[in-house]
Amino acid sequence: MMQSDGLRDLKLPLRGGAGLMPALGFGTLVRGSDETRATTTSALEAGFRHFDCSERYRNEEQVGEAIQAALAKGLVNRRDLFLTTKLWNNNHRPARVLPAFEASLDRLKLEYLDLYLIHTPYAFQPGEDQDPRDESDNVIYDRGVTLLETWRALEDLVDRGRCKAIGLSDVSVEQLREIFDGARIKPAAVQVEAHPHLPQTELLEFCRSKGVVMIAFAPLGHGIRPGVLEDPAVISVSQRLNKTPAQILLSWAIQRGTAILTTPRTPERARENSAVSVLPESAMEEINAIERRQRFNLVTGTGIPGFIAKGN
Ligand SMILES: NC(=O)c1ccc[n+]([C@@H]2O[C@H](COP(=O)([O-])OP(=O)(O)OC[C@H]3O[C@@H](n4cnc5c(N)ncnc54)[C@H](OP(=O)(O)O)[C@@H]3O)[C@@H](O)[C@H]2O)c1
Repeated sequence: MMQSDGLRDLKLPLRGGAGLMPALGFGTLVRGSDETRATTTSALEAGFRHFDCSERYRNEEQVGEAIQAALAKGLVNRRDLFLTTKLWNNNHRPARVLPAFEASLDRLKLEYLDLYLIHTPYAFQPGEDQDPRDESDNVIYDRGVTLLETWRALEDLVDRGRCKAIGLSDVSVEQLREIFDGARIKPAAVQVEAHPHLPQTELLEFCRSKGVVMIAFAPLGHGIRPGVLEDPAVISVSQRLNKTPAQILLSWAIQRGTAILTTPRTPERARENSAVSVLPESAMEEINAIERRQRFNLVTGTGIPGFIAKGN
């Protein structure tokens, strides 16, 4: 295994003393029950301590089982884990937030969450259907609730002591600023697609200036090829430093100050992706200089997930 030199264990402080987030995170958007349990277990064994879930992924129960098994075996303590889940679009009405939160906690078999996020800024028709559609197959949006109203219901969860921090996902810098300015409890984190082809520089600058942690999803561009894993600059740096392209991309992302979420599907890849290490400044600059721009996930346009595992 490669040397980790501290980057692997880096923790990012959350605003207002809300705790420390391990920069290296495992994303649980995994297809199928058995695969969810297996990949979550492999990630725990490889040393991942930050886990990102969502009610939308429909596998919180299996993630919870894998986590409970690791706790029972003494592999980890709850206080060493950082566990996030997200409120889906059909639950934006304030009256729906606490029940949705409690249902996620029950499925995950947890007493509290470290972070609860609004998964997207789009409110869908309230109800049990996560993907409400009209006869023409268009999504039915809910114009009767604002993002700030949903945010206030998340603030209540913090007041109740059931979650340590709250944040947003799939928002623009303008949307983040609006919530930040209107909030009583400021967003501690924001989760967005970010990688060298979509560096989200303006959002990252805003986050730095306000002490908000930016969490990069798709740091490997969802594994889509051609994509960031095959970028010539990434390949060149990886060959020079004798690391894999995935390790270069994840190390770059953490070294620039973001947390990352990656979803390795085998124990070998879990070990590979957890072996992040500090890159020389010249390698950082080479990757920062990439000019190609590419967004892989279209969820920010409509609220419709562009990358939900088939079968979930
Ligand atoms: N907030 C949101 O709207 C949102 C949206 C999407 C995802 N997320 C979160 O972000 C997490 C991360 O998911 P992601 O797809 O964005 O992660 P990612 O790490 O960018 O992509 C994962 C894919 O990359 C490939 N891969 C993984 N490790 C590799 C390696 N070492 N070498 C080569 N290829 C490798 C795999 O593809 P193959 O299996 O095809 O090889 C894997 O399916 C999700 O699980 C979820 O928690 C959030």
